[in-house]
Amino acid sequence: STSVTLPRLREMANAGEKIAMLTCYDASFATLMDQCGVDMLLVGDSLGNVCQGRGTTLGVSVNDIAYHTECVARGNRTAFLTADMPFGSYGTPRTAYENAVKLMQAGAQMVKIEGGLWLRDTVQFLTERGIPVFAHLGLTPQYVHQLGGFKVQGKTAEAAQRLKDEALALEAAGASMLLLEAIPAALGKELTEALSMPTIGIGAGPDCSGQVLVMHDMLDVFPGKKARFVRNFMAGQSSIADAIRSYVVTVKEKSFPSTEHCF
Ligand code: KIV
Ligand code: NA
Repeated sequence: STSVTLPRLREMANAGEKIAMLTCYDASFATLMDQCGVDMLLVGDSLGNVCQGRGTTLGVSVNDIAYHTECVARGNRTAFLTADMPFGSYGTPRTAYENAVKLMQAGAQMVKIEGGLWLRDTVQFLTERGIPVFAHLGLTPQYVHQLGGFKVQGKTAEAAQRLKDEALALEAAGASMLLLEAIPAALGKELTEALSMPTIGIGAGPDCSGQVLVMHDMLDVFPGKKARFVRNFMAGQSSIADAIRSYVVTVKEKSFPSTEHCF
């Protein structure tokens, strides 16, 4: 099959073909997910939780992400490979650029950064230099101590309007895609309709251009408490490949997420 590219992802979003994305941290899973039809792989800083056993993502380093990105890149053939910029690695446009270059050289094709209006200059700086940016709004886990926990965002009219302003500003600055985490489904729909870039949701309702889950959550491996937006795709399956294929089909058919996974 042919490689997934940003223009292809935009085409899919415009055509209403849902984008199936999963996190991935090693070569074997990258090969399997790619073969099972996952469109996008994310080397998430969630590796701090699921691989390193941390309570938050704050301890993850650029070298950690670069290492796992190299591993995933070796196993992947056609999926579009995105890497998270970890906490503290994009405080200024210059620092962001230097660290993003390391991740792109490790094999990433786009980098994800958490935050709103203050990132406009950084989005422009990276994009102008050949680094596509995946913005991340809503529940941004690197802000856990400011948010006071991992909570649903955008619930009031003011908070929803602020998210919309941020999303439009980041798109205007050049962002290629937007990750929406833990927001009301109605807001996920409104934002997706207001933007021309594709949106990927995790707890952001069924109307985003695509969905993402952490692989350890959807394979029911992570020992911790599960978020409302998680579905166990291993249930009723006899192999990990079947669970991943079921995830892809369920996202494409628009039967995941259902209301029980939404806010
Ligand atoms: O780090 C991560 O896995 C993520 C996704 C859950 C969106 O950022
Ligand atoms: Na992340």
